[in-house]
Amino acid sequence: MKRMVTILAGAGIAMSSFAGTAGAAEPVELNSVISKQEQQKMINVAHRGASGHAPENTMAAFHKGFEMKADYIEIDVQMTKDGELVAIHDTTVDRTTDGTGAVGSLTFDEIRQLDAGSWFGPEFAGEKVPTFEEILDAFRGKVGILIELKAPELYPGIEEKVAEALIERNLHNPNNEKIIIQSFNHQSMQTSKELLPNVPHGVLAGASWANVTDEQLAEFATYADYFNPNMNIVTHEMVADVHDADMKIYPYTSRSQEQALRLFDLGVDGIITDYTEHVYKHPVKNH
Ligand code: G3P
Ligand code: CA
Repeated sequence: MKRMVTILAGAGIAMSSFAGTAGAAEPVELNSVISKQEQQKMINVAHRGASGHAPENTMAAFHKGFEMKADYIEIDVQMTKDGELVAIHDTTVDRTTDGTGAVGSLTFDEIRQLDAGSWFGPEFAGEKVPTFEEILDAFRGKVGILIELKAPELYPGIEEKVAEALIERNLHNPNNEKIIIQSFNHQSMQTSKELLPNVPHGVLAGASWANVTDEQLAEFATYADYFNPNMNIVTHEMVADVHDADMKIYPYTSRSQEQALRLFDLGVDGIITDYTEHVYKHPVKNH
């Protein structure tokens, strides 16, 4: 049945309180009605932190995601030449810092001297590339952490290092649902799952997985709890198939209100977004 339009007025008001660059969505006409209940259920993942509002993969972006009441912050983890785990998306520092070179060819001291904020706006000058461990220490227990191992094939042993950092902090326990590890490298996820059997894992799926089969999903489900695809390939059928395989589905990366609403309509479990306010949650009243 085609559901007729309207974004709840309340959601519109709440969005405006997070007014950011592209944050305050105008009321739009779509074939969706998002109820408060649907919003409450939807897991809201701040992609690379609240990266629509602050430089991605910096403490500023992670704090912003936390302030905006995301359920999870998503971080991209790689390894420096001298073995430090750091949060940065690209495999070079060129786009998001004032330096150049491959992450894996620079020492931690070299990377730490770089400015990871100015490219986004002068008010973020001096933001550093954070370490994985400082993110864990700052946000554990406050907000969920969706850890992406980015290009782990470049960093032999990265799964073990991530596992060590989590185990040291007792974040590997059963039923700890606020830590998830995911990667486009599915072999790496199998390795990681063996090291951290009680931590939920996810497989990331690019556009080439549009026709993923039930057999492939069943194979993923032997080690993964999440199938997180490019949002452009998500269909009702895919959502049903992922659920039938006993996994959840958090598509990436929503960057407009319309995109988020489409994903609501498709019945996904979570939305990975640069704009947390597009997946707004009404405050829960205690009384
Ligand atoms: O969380 C999934 C999403 O982050 C994957 O894409 O390129 O933004 O890391 P990318
Ligand atoms: Ca990512």
